[in-house]
Amino acid sequence: MMITLVSPAIEEYARLHTEAPDALLDQLYDETHATMQFPQMLVGALEGAFLRMLVRLTRARRVLEIGMFTGYSALMMAAGLPAGGQLITCDINPAAEAVARRYFARSPHGEKIQIRMGPALETIATLAAPFDLVFIDADKANYVNYYEAVLPLVPAGGLIVADNALWSGHVVDPREPESRAIAAFNDHVARDGRVDKVMLTVRDGMLLALKR
Ligand SMILES: C[S@@+](CC[C@H](N)C(=O)[O-])C[C@H]1O[C@@H](n2cnc3c(N)ncnc32)[C@H](O)[C@@H]1O
Repeated sequence: MMITLVSPAIEEYARLHTEAPDALLDQLYDETHATMQFPQMLVGALEGAFLRMLVRLTRARRVLEIGMFTGYSALMMAAGLPAGGQLITCDINPAAEAVARRYFARSPHGEKIQIRMGPALETIATLAAPFDLVFIDADKANYVNYYEAVLPLVPAGGLIVADNALWSGHVVDPREPESRAIAAFNDHVARDGRVDKVMLTVRDGMLLALKR
């Protein structure tokens, strides 16, 4: 996936004027890029810092992440949680899980994180409310299903954040299945009177839906 929404120079300028990740996150970024397939799936420093700020702004105590990969966004969001806060994160890739577990063990925020392996829709069905913030960042075909599954678990004032909402801009003329799935998801949320929504051009696009 090539992300070209914002010019590289502006992206870099924005990153340099954003709170820098700690050394552990930099190591995780480097290891993921050196050893994993599709390392660009990781949200990176700018979007990661924004997610951490959203956790703080919403004063979230419980966060659900759908799509952990090697754990970069999970560690960022966990850092925004207070002591005693909880982040549940879902994935199906054991190679990514092995990396994530090593880094969670080294982080002071790792004890807030619980990993649930298995298809996220099955995991969500086992979870009890409330989740103050949900970050959707897994298989795009299921975005509408994830959204509908988590909305009942989110209280009024809770926030759902969907990543890759602009899919490198392909949503404006969606031709292949993933672009179509994300475009359909964006339309679904746009029509949904249960939430107040805003789409941001951060990185690959983020759709924020605040439950009324
Ligand atoms: C874009 S990556 C997540 C990146 C991560 N949020 C980050 O920024 O570091 C998407 C992840 O979703 C996982 N995934 C794909 N289908 C899934 C499913 N049905 N249930 C749970 N996880 C799934 C993939 O294994 C992959 O690790």
